[in-house]
Amino acid sequence: MSKKLNISTSLEVYENLQELASEDFLLMEHAVKARSRAYAPYSEFAVGCAILLENNEIVTGNNQENAAYPSGLCAERVALFYAGSQYPGVPVKKMVLTAGPMSSDFFKPVPPCGACRQVISEYEKRQENGIEIYFMGTGGKVVRASSMESLLPLSFDKNYL
Ligand code: THU
Repeated sequence: MSKKLNISTSLEVYENLQELASEDFLLMEHAVKARSRAYAPYSEFAVGCAILLENNEIVTGNNQENAAYPSGLCAERVALFYAGSQYPGVPVKKMVLTAGPMSSDFFKPVPPCGACRQVISEYEKRQENGIEIYFMGTGGKVVRASSMESLLPLSFDKNYL
């Protein structure tokens, strides 16, 4: 007889940016600035990411597209790989995201794509401490996940290798 396995997750929803704690609001301002520098001429969908490290450094990134579409990279991975290369071994505390079309407002919170979740999950497991994720559209509601595990349960990791 098979058994049912239920997986549940819990997210926090803030009505708007102003509800965030000042540190998180500030971090989102960095993400907004980073988003304005995205290179996304093909999708015209710009994404900005700001990362707060344990040493209080802030690293930002944005999506970098390419005429050979799959060669481009998402904002989260641009930022996270930069953080990993510049500050090896320094844990990531938080990641903050803003995303939406370049030419209009977008008030639906945009969660990180599957590939970015997998990459963030690797960093989270490596540091053995949760990474908080905040995501929004270009404004409006902000969603908070207390760790990547809550956005990507049952993730593949080195223990399966
Ligand atoms: N994108 C990101 O930067 N992060 C995500 O999590 C989702 C998608 C980018 C990739 C591409 O440049 C554009 O958004 C449209 O998919």
